[in-house]
Amino acid sequence: MSARMLDGTAVGLAIRTELRPAVEAFTATLGRPPGLGIVLVGNDAGSELYVGSKLKSAAESGLRADLTRLPATASLGEVIAAVERLNASDVHDAILVQSPLPAALGAEAERHVVDHIAVEKDVDGFHPINVGRLVQGHWTLAACTPSGVIELLDRSGIPIVGKHAVVIGRSDIVGKPMALLLLHRHATVTICHSKTVDLPAVARQADILVAAIGRPAFVTPAYVKPGATVIDVGTSRVGDRALVESIFPAGSKRRDAFERRGALTMGDVHPSVEEIAGALTPVPGGVGPLTIAMLLKNTLAAAEQRFVKPATS
Ligand code: GUN
Repeated sequence: MSARMLDGTAVGLAIRTELRPAVEAFTATLGRPPGLGIVLVGNDAGSELYVGSKLKSAAESGLRADLTRLPATASLGEVIAAVERLNASDVHDAILVQSPLPAALGAEAERHVVDHIAVEKDVDGFHPINVGRLVQGHWTLAACTPSGVIELLDRSGIPIVGKHAVVIGRSDIVGKPMALLLLHRHATVTICHSKTVDLPAVARQADILVAAIGRPAFVTPAYVKPGATVIDVGTSRVGDRALVESIFPAGSKRRDAFERRGALTMGDVHPSVEEIAGALTPVPGGVGPLTIAMLLKNTLAAAEQRFVKPATS
């Protein structure tokens, strides 16, 4: 059996196309487009790429998107000051601080910075109040990648209600909000992590398996129930030739890409899982385009939340 490939690029494009009329209506009413302010600290190569795609996609969808760049040497105070400027801006409805922040800012830096983002502009849904709303099941802004996974499942006709979903990874950005969104869709949810005993056996119970750990090719067929839906959230940049050679045979497309570029973007799921899964997201072209589509959708939602008052009865 060969898994059905779930096309995140097509679903992402469909979401972005659907946003257009509402973006145009907002722009006509307010005399300006919905606005997103992105803060990028330092020069992490992966973050540069992601932020570039976010800015480009926002512009293509008729949104305003501005980048505030700070050097890797910026202090926590300077990062928070950039957030406060966007909080006070009339033209920015949504704020995103690209993660990860430079390690020199300290382990708690992301938490401190997120705490300063205005709740209604917190496009990632990372602020404690938005996390609380997600836990309670009445959110407007939820983390973009997990929200995109739900859209992909829905639009691919993969049922969630009553299914056993296993999420590998417990990050604030993906694992935890993913588990909550699946729970709110009435899945039975298990969260696994590095201390989980017999992880392959737990993962094998999943009808829907979400891998979000950032370890290339970690999930092998031993982790997958035949026919399961496998969602690969990993995007590791791999330059290790021995690892690439052990996974992709000579002459394969991916191996050729590695030979040309000297590195590959790899997911958490081993390619041999394609032989056992029922449905699978590729990397690249799976979850990545959905993260961006949901960022644009959340930017519009944040803008509408600020300015479009609900009709009163
Ligand atoms: N870095 C990787 N994914 C994300 C995301 O969804 N939001 C932010 N702010 N940073 C990220």
